Amino acid sequence: MAQQNIYDNNDFFNNFMDIREDNLNFNDIIETPIILSMMPDLKGKRILDLGCGMGQHAKQYVRMGASYVLGIDISEKMLSFARENNSAENIEYRRLPFERIEEINKKFDVVTSSLAFDYVEDFYMLIKRIHNLLNEGGTLVFSMSHPLSTAYDGTYDRYTRLENGERIYANLRNYNKEGIRKIKWVVDDYELYHRKISTLINSMVKSGFNIEECQESKVPEDISKKYPERFGGVMHQPDFIFFRCKKQSSKRFREV
Ligand SMILES: C[S@@+](CC[C@H](N)C(=O)[O-])C[C@H]1O[C@@H](n2cnc3c(N)ncnc32)[C@H](O)[C@@H]1O
Repeated sequence: MAQQNIYDNNDFFNNFMDIREDNLNFNDIIETPIILSMMPDLKGKRILDLGCGMGQHAKQYVRMGASYVLGIDISEKMLSFARENNSAENIEYRRLPFERIEEINKKFDVVTSSLAFDYVEDFYMLIKRIHNLLNEGGTLVFSMSHPLSTAYDGTYDRYTRLENGERIYANLRNYNKEGIRKIKWVVDDYELYHRKISTLINSMVKSGFNIEECQESKVPEDISKKYPERFGGVMHQPDFIFFRCKKQSSKRFREV
């Protein structure tokens, strides 16, 4: 399976860090409050954080009572940041791509991932492998870019705007055409995978998960009114989608 490690590219990493240091970044304003609200009780739980990046979520899960967190990521730069800034004695950071998580010889109560599954080519295979790593009754909670957003292929304007710049429609093309998208984001040739909502749902259901909750990104009204240029699009098109699902079956899936 193809793997991309753009976070170890110097330009990308530096630009990404600038975005994250901005107080109004989408991760802190939109993603983190929603995913934390969807977490089960983490007290005494063993957590696996896939694509842990800078480790701030791992640290938060320890604050919420997790007994152990394993954060994995493909990027050495992200992991170095995590080790320097978000360490704890019960957090372990390991360099490993999602495509090889079957090598982890541990079981977890909760597997989570924030905005990292956009980079996985074979989503169904990933979800099946996560199912195998969970204890019976364990929970998967994740966020990723919303399919209405990942459909964008860079060849048209994302929004139709009034002359004053106000966004009045989100534009959509080729939603039904799944696969890789190369767009300009942080760098010119950023790559991610677009999948339909039905593909996400069916991958969880076929793997033996029971979907308990789905959320789509939203912004508190006072914030979107105060910063219309930054958050004005969220009303028309959610940037992120979130799922919480529970492992239902002990059946082990064999690789084909
Ligand atoms: C948008 S960042 C999110 C980081 C972190 N979860 C957060 O919310 O701040 C995506 C992360 O996924 C990681 N990633 C991308 N492809 C990966 C792969 N194949 N295996 C493991 N990690 C990957 C990147 O290195 C990056 O740290």
